[in-house]
Amino acid sequence: MKVLGIESSCDETSASVVIDSKDPEKRILSNVINSQIHIHAEYGGVIPEFAARNHADMIDKVIKESLDKANCKIQDIDIIAATGGPGLIGGLLVGMVTAKTIAVMLDKPFMAINHLEGHLLTTRLCYDVEFPYLLLLTSGGHFIFAEVFGVGNYKVLGETLDDAAGESFDKVAKMLGFEYPGGPAIQKYAELGNPNRFEFTMPLQRRSGCDASFSGLKTAARLQIEKLEKVTDQDKYDMAASFQGIVVKFITRQIEKAYHMTESLPKNVVVAGGVAANKSLRESLLKFCQENNLNFFAPPLSLCSDNAAMIAWAAIERKKAGFSYSDLDIQTRPRWSITEC
Ligand code: KG4
Ligand code: ZN
Repeated sequence: MKVLGIESSCDETSASVVIDSKDPEKRILSNVINSQIHIHAEYGGVIPEFAARNHADMIDKVIKESLDKANCKIQDIDIIAATGGPGLIGGLLVGMVTAKTIAVMLDKPFMAINHLEGHLLTTRLCYDVEFPYLLLLTSGGHFIFAEVFGVGNYKVLGETLDDAAGESFDKVAKMLGFEYPGGPAIQKYAELGNPNRFEFTMPLQRRSGCDASFSGLKTAARLQIEKLEKVTDQDKYDMAASFQGIVVKFITRQIEKAYHMTESLPKNVVVAGGVAANKSLRESLLKFCQENNLNFFAPPLSLCSDNAAMIAWAAIERKKAGFSYSDLDIQTRPRWSITEC
C-alpha cells in the first residue's frame, strides 16, 4: 500500500509518500514541507488569508517534489489522503480539493484525515508502540490528554480550558520580542536564563481531573515583565526559563493525574504535536515514566510539527483497521474532535 498524504491545515504545505512496510525506517519515502514561517513572522502569528493563498501557490510543486523524491509516479499511488480538519478553512480547502481532484482523475480512493489523529499516530509510524497508550497531544492549537485504545478509538481525559501550551509559548515569546514561532525561541533562550527568577502559581490547584489552563500563566508573565523598569536581555532569558519551567512542571503534574484516570492503566505513554519537540518537556515526561515504570515515546523532532507523512500514515492505519474510504462530497471540518474520528 502506497499513500500520498497532503497537509495544509495551518502554515505548512506538505506532501508525503508513505508505504505500509513492516520496518518503520523504510516507511517514509518522502516528506516535503514548505514552511510559511517567513510570511507570518513579521505579524507574530499566522494570518489565515495569507496562509490560504500560499498553500494554493505551493501545493502542486510540493506534491510533485514528494513524488519525485519517492521515485514514483502519481499512478503508482493507492490512496490519496488529505487533512480534512481541524484547522484554518482556507488551507484545508486547498488540500482537500487538490486531493479529491487527483482521486477523481485517477479513479483512486480518497481519505479525509483528522489532523490530530495524524499527530497521535505518529509514534506508531516511527516505532512499534502497542495500544493502549496514554496520549498527551500538545500543539499550537490543541492540548489534550487522551486514552488511545486503538485506531479511531480515543477517549479524551482532559483538555485545556483556554489557550493551548504552544499558543502560550508563542504569545510570551511575542511579549519578549523573540522570533516567531515562539516555542523554539523560548526553548533556545531559556538555556541562557535562570528558571527560578520569576515566580508563578501552579494553575488549577484545587480542580480535580486533568484539564489544563495556560492563559493565567501568560498573564502572570506579562504582569511581571511590565513591573520591570527596563527589560534587559537577561530579564528576557530569565522569563523564558521561568515560564518554560512552570509550563513543564504543570504538564508533568497533570499527566500523572491523567494516568490515574485511564481505564486500562496502559504501559505506554506517548507525546505528540509541535510542543512535543520541547527538550525540557521531553526530559520531564521521560523522568515521570521512568519513575512509574512506564515506556515513554516521542516522535523524532522532524515529525513533531505539522507534516504530511503523519496524514499518509493515519490513512494506512485506518485502512488496516477496516475503516472505509471517504465520500468525495465530504466537507472540510475546521473543528473536528478526535472522539468523532
Ligand atoms: O503541531 P504544530 O506544528 O502545529 C499545530 O497543529 O498547531 O505545533 C506548533 C506549535 C507552535 O505553538 C510552536 O511554538 C510549538 O508548537 N513548538 C514548540 C517547540 N517547537 C514547536 N514549543 C515549545 N518548544 C519547542 N521546541
Ligand atoms: Zn499540528
